[in-house]
Amino acid sequence: MEERDLVALFNSLSLDEKIGQLVQLSGDFFLESDGALAVGPDEQLGISPDLYKIAGSVLNVVGKDKMLQIQRENIVNSEHPIPLLFMADIIYGYRTVFPIPLALGCSWDLSLVQQAYQILANEARNDGVNVTFSPMVDLVRDARWGRCLESTGEDPLLNSKFAKAMVTGIQQEDENGNLKGIVSCVKHFAAYGAAESGKEYNTVDMSNRELRQNYLPAYKAAIDAGCRMVMSSFNSFNGIPATANKYLMKQILREEFEFNGVVISDFAAVQELVKHGVAEDERSASKLAIDATTDIDMKSPCYANSLKDLLNKAEIEEQQVDNAVWRVLKLKNELGLFETDYRQANNSSSDLNLPDSSRNIARKMATESVVLLKNSNNLLPLKSNKDKILLVGPYADSKDLIGLWAVHADKNDCITIHEGMSEYSDLNHLKSVTGCGFVDDIKKLRNFGNSDIANSFAVDEVDELDEVMKLASSSDVVIFAVGEHELQSGEAGSRTDIRIPEKQRRLMKKVAKLHKKMVLISLSGRPIALTKESQYIDAILQAWYPGIEGGHAIADIIFGKENPSGRLSVSMPRSVGQEPLYYNTMNTGRPDEGQKTRFLSRYTDCDRGALYPFGFGLSYSEVCYKDLKVEDTQNHEIHISVKIKNLSERAVNETVQLYLRDMVGQVTRPIKELRDFKKINLMAHESKQVNFEIVKDQLVYYDYNEKLVPMKGELQIMVGKNSEDYSTQTIYI
Ligand code: BGC
Repeated sequence: MEERDLVALFNSLSLDEKIGQLVQLSGDFFLESDGALAVGPDEQLGISPDLYKIAGSVLNVVGKDKMLQIQRENIVNSEHPIPLLFMADIIYGYRTVFPIPLALGCSWDLSLVQQAYQILANEARNDGVNVTFSPMVDLVRDARWGRCLESTGEDPLLNSKFAKAMVTGIQQEDENGNLKGIVSCVKHFAAYGAAESGKEYNTVDMSNRELRQNYLPAYKAAIDAGCRMVMSSFNSFNGIPATANKYLMKQILREEFEFNGVVISDFAAVQELVKHGVAEDERSASKLAIDATTDIDMKSPCYANSLKDLLNKAEIEEQQVDNAVWRVLKLKNELGLFETDYRQANNSSSDLNLPDSSRNIARKMATESVVLLKNSNNLLPLKSNKDKILLVGPYADSKDLIGLWAVHADKNDCITIHEGMSEYSDLNHLKSVTGCGFVDDIKKLRNFGNSDIANSFAVDEVDELDEVMKLASSSDVVIFAVGEHELQSGEAGSRTDIRIPEKQRRLMKKVAKLHKKMVLISLSGRPIALTKESQYIDAILQAWYPGIEGGHAIADIIFGKENPSGRLSVSMPRSVGQEPLYYNTMNTGRPDEGQKTRFLSRYTDCDRGALYPFGFGLSYSEVCYKDLKVEDTQNHEIHISVKIKNLSERAVNETVQLYLRDMVGQVTRPIKELRDFKKINLMAHESKQVNFEIVKDQLVYYDYNEKLVPMKGELQIMVGKNSEDYSTQTIYI
């Protein structure tokens, strides 16, 4: 629609209709569970039928038919036909489910991630979705937090690059900035990942300098990439919940980032301002939220019931509501919703197939996301049909490989690890047994809600220890496919124990007594503490939740069809007590550099640093680095080069990482910061020179007053395989 027509439509709206545009309700307001149109559970939320009938957007209804049905009904019944916006959580897959974002982070492969997000957006769009609440770009440093699963990791630069790749893949703008995909909503603004003690929904208190230096860059990158929507986070930030936080929302997001798109609250976050204790009631919660330019109230009665009264009593200005409504209408127009004639919408069922091309990307993505953490005596890769292998554990034959947030997926699309391995090994060489369930007390997990998911894990009652011992005795290699239960990560999946659940650890310990060669495939939605396992298991693959093609990808790596190339985008802890744990920490006045004195910054009962550091990951090839050169052009740039050589017979993908340390600043500076990286393919025995450039103007940091100031003096430039294995050169700027 032309802008003038949109203005005319806007001007014709009643106040109720305008407010309706700012209200988002979930599917149960529109449909019964059997798909029939519903009159809406208005009593439950306390929203009057008149208002929910003109609600502007719908949450998490998917399926083209249902959407068309709702859309048609809405259009037919309203005086001013404004199509609804359908928004859903398409976080890392719709029909094609890719690995969880934490795993994607470990691929360090931006273009592949962009392709993956293009696929998920196209599938969602073809099934009627207009907006996805993705990417989630919260920086994560605390493995206790269950939503580590949704983030690409702990580094601001890496997260920013992934944010851009994901937004670009989701929205697919043409050269004129027109949407070809769907709308991307970046979340959760801001600093949700810093929830105190890793406990879900908890308070965030940090300096504004820290916020700007580490937490904001990825949201900013998403917005710079054209992301059209932002979701406010649940947490309070320095005392004020994000949804009502003018510093975050007005000063930073709207003014500094110049974000003109739609801001939506997280689920009932406007209403939760009352529980936070910053609003007396829903009415004042609405005022706080709209004053902070929160446009859409997701799944709460606040705006629906209060905005009119607030306006009538002149406690908010008409312009505030108008601005919010205009932003919503503009977005609908950009999506081309006004051009679709829903009255004549055809009834064709959605055709959501799973083509090989999408599966192939999912397989490639999973392969690149798996991180080889240990490989003693080059146990891996195994030779197919040579060794007798026993695959054991609750994930051995499981299709639960997609984690908690691929809500619209069909688990039956998953290739199990056993199925994947069976393509390499015949029945005489590969046996599989579940062995045990996930946890000792599944009831406890069930009591946390989502019991339908908990119940779907049939293996929880399994106890096949004798069988495991018998089969393991006659095997050469035992592969454990173990890890967290899906319910132990994801939203509201915080844990204080971040090891593999005890039940499975007992099984592994028992088998270890047989002194067989052992491989661990660790599946989890967070960095997991593998300290004990790293002591007695020969080879470890961190496979996260690898998605529908996980079984193939893991098998391809185990049997050497693929050379592992994943690099950790989060530090893997030795113990939960180290959390929050991250590589780009400050030095302190008493850093632990191995001195023989008590008075150092360290723990008395835990070794220094991560068990496996940020950037770490092995392959089946040895790659050597030499000739690091750093040249200050005395101009605008610093040129850096290094030579890498593949010493093996196999092709390999090596992720060359460039870190920097600013030795002296006006405020304490991190001991290293990732500055750039390149993923380089090397054929057998091939050498390459890898070049980086640092533009000096970009060597800045936030001072105590939140102002960007230039780095000065000594800089250490580090280039290497990971955040702890590198060569260093010093320069002065
Ligand atoms: C989550 C969001 C999600 C929203 C809508 C909330 O509970 O925090 O990430 O987008 O629900 O489903």
